[in-house]
Amino acid sequence: MSAGLAPLTVAAAGTGPASTAAAGAALAVRRAAGDDRQALADMLARCSRETRYRRFHGYVNVFPRRYLAEALSGSPVHVALVASAADGRIVALASCRGVFEGVAELGILVEDEWQRRGIGRRLLEEFVGYASRTGLRALQAQVLAEQSWLVGLLRGYGTCETRGTGAVLNVTLRLPGCLGCPCCPCCSCCPCCPAVVTNSRCASGAGRGFPGGLFPARRAARPER
Ligand SMILES: CC(C)(COP(=O)(O)OP(=O)(O)OC[C@H]1O[C@@H](n2cnc3c(N)ncnc32)[C@H](O)[C@@H]1OP(=O)(O)O)[C@@H](O)C(=O)NCCC(=O)NCCS
Repeated sequence: MSAGLAPLTVAAAGTGPASTAAAGAALAVRRAAGDDRQALADMLARCSRETRYRRFHGYVNVFPRRYLAEALSGSPVHVALVASAADGRIVALASCRGVFEGVAELGILVEDEWQRRGIGRRLLEEFVGYASRTGLRALQAQVLAEQSWLVGLLRGYGTCETRGTGAVLNVTLRLPGCLGCPCCPCCSCCPCCPAVVTNSRCASGAGRGFPGGLFPARRAARPER
């Protein structure tokens, strides 16, 4: 993902708690870097308990150490974006972390004061665009059942499958072009469905996964049986 992403002009305060954040403020959206560590810690400290809980499903006061190290590492398998204000304050952190070939897990956190201004949607769209450029076929997210509106948001970008009946829903967003697989949460291109891999609608996306990343290129499609 290129470092130079289009800036985001946030919407005027809507129904959310964004009372003091300037309407029309321009935010930079860029890849997270190692020297964002302090600004990210400051952002998390400004977030409400509820927001932190919704992101990590626990009352964390600091970012999980391994998660943050990976997000800031520049790894092609864990792409993290921040939205930052002109004064350097970071107001959102979003990550897209490869979990297995062709599938990545999303996590988005927008500071309370900046919620409901289109930042979450913009970060999601960056990852959807990234996914389609790099051959990812599905994005997964764990969301609290009380936030089922998030499924509606994701559904705007593909088809959604939701699993779980408890407090946490596991959502798989299959991106356009993905046929869906009967036997795994990934896609038609999964290794256990060689017959489906040969489907022409899948051919362009097969085997690319994350660029230069952890996941090796898929073996050549087997001939039809
Ligand atoms: C979820 C989250 C990332 C959304 O970010 P955001 O910047 O507030 O969302 P946006 O302003 O881009 O909203 C996009 C759409 O989502 C829906 N939405 C956003 N917040 C909502 C809310 N509190 N209730 C209902 N719908 C909501 C709306 O449809 C909205 O579109 P609209 O404003 O045109 O009506 C943010 O609320 C957040 O960080 N929450 C805490 C952490 C979390 O829950 N992360 C998700 C799980 S990883």
